[in-house]
Amino acid sequence: MKSVAAALRYQCGFGNHFATEALPGALPEGRNSPQHCAYGLYAEQFSGTAFTAPRHSNRRSWLYRIRPAAVHGEFLPLEAGWVTNRFEELTPSPNQLRWDPLPVPRQATDFVAGLRAIAGNGSPDAHGGCGIYWYVANRSMRERFFYDADGELLLVPQLGSLRIATELGRIEAGPQEIVVIPRGLRFRVELLEREARGYICENFGAPLRLPDLGPIGANGLANPRDFLTPVASYEDREGEFELIAKFAGRLWAAPITHSPLDVVAWHGNNAPYKYDLRRFNTLGSVSYDHPDPSIFLVLQSQSDTPGVDGIDFVIFPPRWQVAQDTFRPPWFHRNVASEFMGLITGVYDAKAEGFAAGGASLHNCMSGHGPDAATYEQALRADTSRPVHIAATMAFMFETRTVIRPTRFALEVRQLQKGYSRVWRDLPKKFSPDWVAPAKRASRRRAVRRR
Ligand SMILES: [Fe+2]
Repeated sequence: MKSVAAALRYQCGFGNHFATEALPGALPEGRNSPQHCAYGLYAEQFSGTAFTAPRHSNRRSWLYRIRPAAVHGEFLPLEAGWVTNRFEELTPSPNQLRWDPLPVPRQATDFVAGLRAIAGNGSPDAHGGCGIYWYVANRSMRERFFYDADGELLLVPQLGSLRIATELGRIEAGPQEIVVIPRGLRFRVELLEREARGYICENFGAPLRLPDLGPIGANGLANPRDFLTPVASYEDREGEFELIAKFAGRLWAAPITHSPLDVVAWHGNNAPYKYDLRRFNTLGSVSYDHPDPSIFLVLQSQSDTPGVDGIDFVIFPPRWQVAQDTFRPPWFHRNVASEFMGLITGVYDAKAEGFAAGGASLHNCMSGHGPDAATYEQALRADTSRPVHIAATMAFMFETRTVIRPTRFALEVRQLQKGYSRVWRDLPKKFSPDWVAPAKRASRRRAVRRR
């Protein structure tokens, strides 16, 4: 299918106060809520933080629309499929887990029908934690629209490009790009290719933001200019449609006789955006040692504890490895944080095999993990006097401060690998109390030759 990406326009900058109108003069000037809006539009505020949130973190937009969001029929519970926030249902184990990619179904499946909750923690009620999903789809949403009142959605496409028509405009994104949709924003997902698959982090907590850079300085990591927000674009469509809400951990459906994507103009900073992960300015060690993964942080959802994020979104993009006399792959480790990883393309540098693009792994709080045996042996043999380029790869991590609890779906699905932890069991015992440092060994050999 032909992409119309070139036709879409965006406004650039992270968290800017944007102003955009699809019809001239639709935005009121000098006020938010005039007695009469142009074109007979309704004014509506759409807030993403408490009204009283500090100015630097306050998010809200003003929408000028054909009908207010309140106009729809009664919501009734919808068969939830695999959508759930019941993360307490099963007791999580400390075992390391890994999944093969989830196949795209053969039967007609749109974005909402293809949501599969894998894991999560916290709850939307407490405004903390996240739900983690795979989405799989083979058809566009046609007569229905969706919003998530429980959280902000971070979409990570892995297969197939999407056009996401939202109340605030249209976004197109494919693999190696991400899209962030604010809590409660209504949208429809269209497929630009035959099949689509990806990952979602449903963020119940504070909206994602760019991290502070500290000693890195004013530039680097994800640069604000590269975040793109759509321009206003509206539909004036009437018909028999369905509005699906995710609210309080389950799906609901209400009839609606018009498209809710009817916002003609808007201004503010509570808006969807996309970002191309290939634009990430990757930093790392140019002397020795492998840096902590926090250096790869793209976006964070801060918690109430300074320095401890509710969610970190981290990527492992193509980069040069130059550290000398260093074990270059990620080291063995155990963390306070819990780590859900996915692979968008290529090979992840800590796993020689078994971690496929579209698959996932889960290493929970204090569960030991690190490079597999093959990667470890290869790294020991590597010549670290020369730089190596890790090319054509893009892995990511949703890292959370509390344990990530797999759902029943995730533990029963056929793609859960049996015996994943065997990748470390082949690591041999190399310890010897008679070990001699290589430099000492060489001098001993020279002394023997002299005798
Ligand atoms: Fe890790």
